[in-house]
Amino acid sequence: MTIRNTFLQQCNRFRFFVRILVLLVLSVSLTGCARTQSTHKEIKIGVCAYDQYDTFLTQLIDCFDENVEDGVSVEYAYASQSQITQNEQVRKMIEKGVDVLCVNLVDRTAPNTIIDLGKKNDVPIIFFNRELVEEDITQWPKLYYVGADAFESGIMQGELAANMIRRESLNADKNGDGKIQYVVLEGEAGHQDSIVRTEYSVKTLVDEGIDVDKVGYAIANWNRAQAQTKMAQLIERNDEAIELVLANNDDMALGAVDAYNSAKISAVDRPIIIGIDGTDVGLEAVVNKTIAGTIYNDKEGQAKAMYDLSILLAREEPLNSLGMEDGRYIRLPYQKVDASNVLQFIHK
Ligand code: BGC
Ligand code: CA
Repeated sequence: MTIRNTFLQQCNRFRFFVRILVLLVLSVSLTGCARTQSTHKEIKIGVCAYDQYDTFLTQLIDCFDENVEDGVSVEYAYASQSQITQNEQVRKMIEKGVDVLCVNLVDRTAPNTIIDLGKKNDVPIIFFNRELVEEDITQWPKLYYVGADAFESGIMQGELAANMIRRESLNADKNGDGKIQYVVLEGEAGHQDSIVRTEYSVKTLVDEGIDVDKVGYAIANWNRAQAQTKMAQLIERNDEAIELVLANNDDMALGAVDAYNSAKISAVDRPIIIGIDGTDVGLEAVVNKTIAGTIYNDKEGQAKAMYDLSILLAREEPLNSLGMEDGRYIRLPYQKVDASNVLQFIHK
């Protein structure tokens, strides 16, 4: 009996160990499964912008954020207009292990530290909105640019202005001298969009056969408050009415409106004011007729292109679906906006 009992006890123990072993094997293989499922590791994207107070960029980044899907995490950093700060932000993001970076340079002529960091750590970089020169972007194959064609925005602004002037004829030429007295409110000096928009909007007006007379210009750094101050000075300095304001962006066009409001100049005595961007406030101003028009800068399209490119780069997948120029550039087209079509652009 005792021998049989001991034998039975040993059998039970054996069965017990076998069960434990089966459980162990099962749990190991299950964790194994879980690991295989997560081979699609989370994609990390770093987005760095030159400043947190830029209306167009804030809206572009909101659009980017709307694209983000499960399995993708994005970290945002704003450089308060310091290239040194931005270089540090990029360095930290790379240390944290981002798969790809989207960079809106502070100084588009100083991308070298960031390019070197990307190269050394094999992190592709998509520059956006502030375009670096060709010699810089061709330094490494994994450098890209997403934005728009600055020439197109200048030309369209000139065409829109010419059409309005022709349509309003006598109302536009307030002093009846056959010429359009105009001022330009310029964005940051050195920015590709300020340089090209300023030159091509006026050149197009002239090509369209409008006789123009430049009565002033001011650099207002894309900023509404600065534009208001500068516009107030231009209004004061000119004895006769200004007939056209070409602003390099909507915020500065709105700054001009603020100056006319403060000066209490009535609508009939105000110039045709045209912006560029089609930001929410810009479109609203076209609806309210405080500005005559704007040129839509396709933030939705740019944000989607940046996001799609980021994902393909992070997964090391082919990029041909994106139809890039020279394998590096994606440029979204601009569109003219005035009172006749503005509603199509609201809540686009
Ligand atoms: C936009 C401006 C913006 C600037 C920032 C331009 O393309 O039109 O509104 O301030 O980019 O770099
Ligand atoms: Ca005139």
